[in-house]
Amino acid sequence: MTEPKPTPNDSRRSNHGAYPLPDGDGRASLLDMFDAAGGEYLSGEEISRRLGVSRTAVWKQIRRLKDAGYVFDASPKLGYRLAASVSALDTRRIASHLRTVRFGRELTVLAKTDSTQTEAEKRAREGAPEGTLVVAEEQTSGRGRQGRVWHSPPGKGVWMSTVLRPEGPLTAVPQLTLLAAVAVCRAIRQVSGVEAGIKWPNDLLADGRKLCGILLEAVVEDGGVRHCIMGIGIDANLEESDYPEELRSKVTSLRRESGIEVDRSALIAAVMNEFETLYRLYAESGFEPVRLLWESLSVTLGREIVVRDVRGERRGWAHGLGGQGELMMRTEDGAVVPVYSGDIELYPKERE
Ligand code: BTN
Repeated sequence: MTEPKPTPNDSRRSNHGAYPLPDGDGRASLLDMFDAAGGEYLSGEEISRRLGVSRTAVWKQIRRLKDAGYVFDASPKLGYRLAASVSALDTRRIASHLRTVRFGRELTVLAKTDSTQTEAEKRAREGAPEGTLVVAEEQTSGRGRQGRVWHSPPGKGVWMSTVLRPEGPLTAVPQLTLLAAVAVCRAIRQVSGVEAGIKWPNDLLADGRKLCGILLEAVVEDGGVRHCIMGIGIDANLEESDYPEELRSKVTSLRRESGIEVDRSALIAAVMNEFETLYRLYAESGFEPVRLLWESLSVTLGREIVVRDVRGERRGWAHGLGGQGELMMRTEDGAVVPVYSGDIELYPKERE
């Protein structure tokens, strides 16, 4: 993928300096220096003089930034130039877009992890507050619903997990997954302009192909919810070649749909902003307003469907969303029956 070249006026690059990088290893001032250079080359000698560190230390810092996803042009004569910082995730960039009180305020960005679900769950067990967010550039064992593998290559997707501490009973958890789908759908539309729609219960599709999946894992204690981990996977900037052969016809990405590289940090913050607003609405007014929003963003309702769950396979039409988040399906004999879990397939059939 060719990264867009930053220009001195590129507003996406104007966040440096607002928030310190977490590890205090000098990367923040190095980034500020490259920002101020406005896309021009800086020699290793000049950087080392201005930072008061050795040339080897400069080289190590640049290597760390590269590992974090920053792209540099290197010239033996001219030195280094920051080619596209928008492609890398970092805490400052995400924080600069946040409009929340709680969600995303406790934030960890990892270069690589097995699964952000596992990382966030660990933090939740250790008492992390609601809204704690773990994001990774790459997952080596990303997991999806029903034990499926979630393909999570480095540097191009949004792989994020958030700690929730809901007050309600376990039966309210499905409502939260639908709430999450509404939040992500709104964030995607806002940041990328892609008209994503929701397939029950919480997949996001564009042009009939999946571009986002949501996984809510609840930890139960004494019959109540101790905490939940809300995992969101968005195929932001993936290209067809980034997917295994068997997935290619079924999936898409925001980049493929819009033709533009998405600022993943802005997208992550937008998801947190939307989620916090809806979560508050849900706490104050219950599920009904969320249900109506879900219906308005749905690409499921009115469609012929096949449901696959523990009871086997059933056919019908998606009629509406019930008060618990269940899908109401009209069967061939005219009865309207609830579907609480399982997978559905939309007809005319989704793309093969
Ligand atoms: C699905 O559609 O099956 C749900 C996919 C959820 C994937 C996300 S990516 C971030 C988080 N970490 C994981 O291992 N899974 C979720």
